[in-house]
Amino acid sequence: MALSSKIIGVGSFVPEKVFTNHDLEKMMNTSDEWIQQRTGIVERRWVDKNVGTSDLAVKASEEAIANAGLDKSDVDMIIFATLSPDHDFPGSGCFLQAKLGIPEIPALDIRQQCTGFIYAMSIADKFIKSGSHKNILVVGAEVHSKGLDRTPEGRNVGVLFGDGAGAVIMSATEVSDAKTEGHFIDAHLHADGSYAKELWLPGPGTGFDSENRFDAAMFEEGLHYPQMNGKVVFVHAVKRMIESLTNLCKEQGVTIDDIDLFLFHQANLRINSKIAEVMNIPEEKVFNTIQKYGNTTAATIPLGMHDAVKAGKLKPGMLVASAAFGSGFTWASALYRF
Ligand code: UT7
Repeated sequence: MALSSKIIGVGSFVPEKVFTNHDLEKMMNTSDEWIQQRTGIVERRWVDKNVGTSDLAVKASEEAIANAGLDKSDVDMIIFATLSPDHDFPGSGCFLQAKLGIPEIPALDIRQQCTGFIYAMSIADKFIKSGSHKNILVVGAEVHSKGLDRTPEGRNVGVLFGDGAGAVIMSATEVSDAKTEGHFIDAHLHADGSYAKELWLPGPGTGFDSENRFDAAMFEEGLHYPQMNGKVVFVHAVKRMIESLTNLCKEQGVTIDDIDLFLFHQANLRINSKIAEVMNIPEEKVFNTIQKYGNTTAATIPLGMHDAVKAGKLKPGMLVASAAFGSGFTWASALYRF
């Protein structure tokens, strides 16, 4: 018997308000045809002005805790992946912890952007395997809409991102047969900071030659909006997600045929189709959600996981593969039996 971790509950939450590509045509210099052809996105959810990232996270977390059959007092750690926290500090994990009413347990924010949820699951797995923690709430949540340029000039990035939250409970389990019993098998985590400025949010920050983290000139230059070199990101995303997942599968002696479901990050439908084509993955094994949510960054994988459960596509005992790529550059892959 070996101590391991297992996903025992999943939850998610998206804001009610749907913004279709046609709604965006009225704000930005874009078209439904361009967005669908280039990205696959049809619509996304954006929050009302009184909603912050931890508000979405609390709903997803409560559902994950309930679906795990636990009480919130059973949770002994929070790991919160987000690039769009409620405030610069403290981390959204602290706000979430207060809203859940579970004081004193550790609350850790991590900032690995679109790769954040795989990093978060891997960190939770390590804590559980060490024996120090038993039930870790792992959350990915984003409110992108409040940080996007939603004017005609903002189309390059503004059409791509949506708001949402997903959460899982990773719980300690004893595994006697690693080939058949549900558990988190392993993850490969990567980063290459030499590409940091290919997809980044410059301001506010201390990285300027300035006495202030932010000033009017930076604001006028639009440095508070995300900047992305889309083509470079696209090429690296395809290459790195394939490379990471291929290496992980090889190391674990797992073939594409062995895997029941692929829950990839959702940045562009064309990225996922290319990966499926190169890796010979049947399209029906790839569960895509970008059409209705856009890119929800750290929330994407748990949001997709919960939708797959609700759609009957993800069932106990299934072998799942995830891979993600994002700002940093960061990228990662994971194998887990549900
Ligand atoms: O999750 C984090 C990781 N992010 C990603 O993985 C994103 C990766 N990159 C991509 O998905 C794609 O590069 C984009 C969807 C961002 C862009 O698609 P693209 O096929 O690379 O288009 P492009 O940037 O080369 O732009 C093509 C044309 C340009 O016009 P010209 O120069 O050909 O006249 C753009 O100005 O499309 C124009 N364009 C738009 N037109 C209408 C760019 N954005 C838009 C828009 N609506 N929203």
